[in-house]
Amino acid sequence: MLSLLSHSAGLVLHAPLHGNAVAAQRSSAPQMAGPRPVQIIPSVLPADWANMGAECKRLEDAGVDRIQFDVMDGNFVPNLTFGPDVIAAQRKTTKLMFETQLMVSERCTDAMLPQFTEATKGPNGEPGVVIVHVEACTHIHRSLSNIRAMGGSPSVALNPSTPAEAVENILDLVDHVLVMTVNPGFGGQAYIPTMTEKIRKIRKWIVDRGLDIDIEVDGGVKADWTIAQCCDAGANCFIAGSGMFAYPTLKEGCDALRAVAQKAQAGDVMAKPN
Ligand code: DX5
Repeated sequence: MLSLLSHSAGLVLHAPLHGNAVAAQRSSAPQMAGPRPVQIIPSVLPADWANMGAECKRLEDAGVDRIQFDVMDGNFVPNLTFGPDVIAAQRKTTKLMFETQLMVSERCTDAMLPQFTEATKGPNGEPGVVIVHVEACTHIHRSLSNIRAMGGSPSVALNPSTPAEAVENILDLVDHVLVMTVNPGFGGQAYIPTMTEKIRKIRKWIVDRGLDIDIEVDGGVKADWTIAQCCDAGANCFIAGSGMFAYPTLKEGCDALRAVAQKAQAGDVMAKPN
């Protein structure tokens, strides 16, 4: 049973669905130990915000798998971007699925999770990926359950200094785990190589438990050793900003990232230069 309490700043959700009800909604398909499909997910941070709608259409035409909207509140991270209305407005320009990363304070998450979950839904109301940071959610088990109850696809993100163990007990609630490979807040930063082993650890938990979960990585991912090493460690969803927008066309960027990732999944893993 889910109770919604009205709140001056939005809806506050209590009494989330029980784990078994949530689990029942999960695909029963056993996790295959083999590679999961590569997904290229551009961040809109480096896009031309004066023409955000046209940029989303350009990304759709480039063949990306979904679009990530980096929500920042100037509190959880030292940057400020946009709210749910900007995300919802892009629904008019593309049929692509969306993904919203909430790099925001707990107060913002508590007050606005329903609005962000609704804005992230697909063209026919399909669950959009809603990412909450484990560092910004005291009651993250409840927040993830609420995202699922509101028709979203829950995902949890970890900052570079947060140990993998912080999400070990909530893997049954999520469809994705996002391993931040830079300190969140800005694009154009360098990939942090020590994150590769964190990816590998989380992937082992997923395979050992037979869970149907994608691992995403975000930050400094390029069509080089970075995406290859992440693939080799078990990631299959790649958020790229500067690594995609740097190409003459977005399709070239998307194709380059996907090609290096798929080669890595086939065993040809580009090495980190000395
Ligand atoms: C960090 C941002 C960036 C962005 C990707 O908070 O979320 O990671 O999405 O930026 P690049 O690909 O330029 O590192």
